[in-house]
Amino acid sequence: MSNRSAKETAENSLKPFVKWVGGKSQLITELEKAIPAKNEKTYTKYCEPMVGGGALFFKILSEYDFKDLYISDINPELVNAYRVVQRNAGDLIQKLHELQTRFLPMDEKSRKFCYYAIRDKFNSTSLTKATATEKAAHFIFLNKTCFNGIYRVNRKGQFNVPMGAYAKPAICDEENLRNINKALQRAEIVCGDYSLSRKFIDDNTFVYLDPPYRPLSETSCFTSYNAENFDDNEQLRLSKFFKKISDSGAKVILSNSDPKNTDPEDSFFDEMYKSYKIERVSATRMINSKADKRGRITELLISN
Ligand SMILES: C[S@@+](CC[C@H](N)C(=O)[O-])C[C@H]1O[C@@H](n2cnc3c(N)ncnc32)[C@H](O)[C@@H]1O
Repeated sequence: MSNRSAKETAENSLKPFVKWVGGKSQLITELEKAIPAKNEKTYTKYCEPMVGGGALFFKILSEYDFKDLYISDINPELVNAYRVVQRNAGDLIQKLHELQTRFLPMDEKSRKFCYYAIRDKFNSTSLTKATATEKAAHFIFLNKTCFNGIYRVNRKGQFNVPMGAYAKPAICDEENLRNINKALQRAEIVCGDYSLSRKFIDDNTFVYLDPPYRPLSETSCFTSYNAENFDDNEQLRLSKFFKKISDSGAKVILSNSDPKNTDPEDSFFDEMYKSYKIERVSATRMINSKADKRGRITELLISN
């Protein structure tokens, strides 16, 4: 694995193609420090099994030369969008371009009508090979135009976020999508539980685990990326997975919320990961309904 030249980087700088709750753009500098240096044992494989919007993944794609890449997520619509960008970017761009040309000149009333019609269509069409590209286009459209870029579903699994208030949302970023399409050709994209990545991971693999955050308090709870909850038992199951892949020789980093922000006595993660390195890094919470809770807090960066 090696860093690419600065010139190449500037030309191929890739950005996430969706906004994602828990997106790690803010922590990139801290996360980058954990990427194995060139002179460390050769890590040739990169694995991000809970990829979300992929802030670190796109940084890695832009600036590092890992030979094999594996990404996955449990959200089928998100994974479908990654796959369509990988396999059918031309048609996707065409559909997004049409949506953008139609939507941007509309007044607010017409935009609302259009947004909710697309949301209904997205919710009533099941995901099949035949509908994959249209569903990915609608998924990206909804992500760019909905309130705060949140992906939230009701108990029936239907996307239920209202329209946001963006004057000129960038629905179709053609250049970025084309660059991502090229870079994704060497990636394996899987829909399902993070544990499926076990067979990809070996002692040449650098792994980044970024699970849904453990809520800091009842009111700050936002972990609903899909219809299931990522509760404390899930955090425990993930810590066992961390240990397993660490024991197999992989280099692993994991980020999570720091319970000590709200309760200095809460050592949930300190106990769980006591055999590993635990750093507290500074961040600003992006998703919180209460403006006064948007201050700087610490987040955990755990590594082996
Ligand atoms: C904090 S977000 C990741 C954010 C990402 N690092 C970014 O920069 O956008 C956590 C992700 O884990 C996914 N997820 C939740 N449970 C999962 C599971 N059991 N296996 C795989 N992915 C899961 C969610 O769908 C969500 O996309």
